[in-house]
Amino acid sequence: MDATIALHENGLGKLLGRSPAMKQLFGLIERVAPTQATVMIMGDSGVGKELVAECLHALSRRARGPLVAINCGSIPASLIEAELFGHEKGSFTGATRSHAGVFERATGGTLFLDEVTEMPLDMQTRLLRVLETGRFYRIGGTQEIHTDVRVIAATNRNITEAVANKRLREDLMYRLAVFPLHVPPLRERTGDVPLLADAFLRALNRASGTNKRFSPHFIATLERCPWSGNVRELKNTIERSFILADDVLDADLPISLPVQAPEPVEPLRPAGVHVPLGSRLDEAERSLIEGTLEYCHGDKRRAAAVLGCSLKTLYNKLNSYASRHVAKPRSDAPCSHATPTTSMM
Ligand SMILES: Nc1ncnc2c1ncn2[C@@H]1O[C@H](COP(=O)(O)OP(=O)(O)OP(=O)(O)O)[C@@H](O)[C@H]1O
Ligand SMILES: [Mg+2]
Repeated sequence: MDATIALHENGLGKLLGRSPAMKQLFGLIERVAPTQATVMIMGDSGVGKELVAECLHALSRRARGPLVAINCGSIPASLIEAELFGHEKGSFTGATRSHAGVFERATGGTLFLDEVTEMPLDMQTRLLRVLETGRFYRIGGTQEIHTDVRVIAATNRNITEAVANKRLREDLMYRLAVFPLHVPPLRERTGDVPLLADAFLRALNRASGTNKRFSPHFIATLERCPWSGNVRELKNTIERSFILADDVLDADLPISLPVQAPEPVEPLRPAGVHVPLGSRLDEAERSLIEGTLEYCHGDKRRAAAVLGCSLKTLYNKLNSYASRHVAKPRSDAPCSHATPTTSMM
């Protein structure tokens, strides 16, 4: 067992999180890590599946052995068999030397099969057989090799759907998912965002010898982002903002935040703007834009998200008002006495 990996107040080893969902995951990782069970890690892209695999290995009895990872989605189908099981010299054109596959290289340790649902089906059949018998041959080899690896697999697909769509063999699914672990998307644990953001900023400051910091507004904005790219997207956003900032990372920095989904924004029910009938369309638009901006406490990015336009469009509109291209809406419109008004609520 790796003594450097332990549960601490901010997470488990390098896997950070204080949300109930992550705490539950840490509990499951600690339980299954020391066993020989095959684990299937599931979760959207960028949620931290590879980090979970590293934790499982580090907390296992095989921690002193190798952790060998293979991305089944990025290896051409023609090469995957040799990558998994190795080959003997001369076993196919171009095999000028014999080569140990990942099953051999991971001996005594853990084999991480990333994106396992992208493996060709015929190779899945071979993989299943090896998992069941614990034995295989190198391509062109005559000597049977016994495996001594613990297998961990990962996918960002829904495995039941992958089986239904014939991407994953059902028997392999059962064999791999002896112990399934689901890593929740970041949008379901936004409470972890400040902790993660802080850790990423500290690492960047350490690496570049700086002391940059977040504005409170920046952190509040981060918590409202949808993070469809999960922790990876958050990490990249912090890095981008870090590069752009002199001392303070702020939400107003150009291109520093991903587009926010309008959903987390509170509905505009209680507030509204009144546009008297008789107003021109550009006047009505100005009212709505200025009213929304006020409602969003001057946060232009958020206002743009609410209005459903790009930040650039919002800036262009505001600049045009500043240069008086568009008349300010008239609250004393000519037909205002006992006049019907349209309400934009
Ligand atoms: N809980 C976490 N604490 C700290 N860093 C994290 C956490 N989760 C993810 N990361 C970081 O986010 C990035 C993406 O994580 P990782 O590669 O493990 O995701 P993944 O689920 O394997 O992604 P993919 O589906 O694209 O393979 C990495 O830089 C990782 O270190
Ligand atoms: Mg990964």
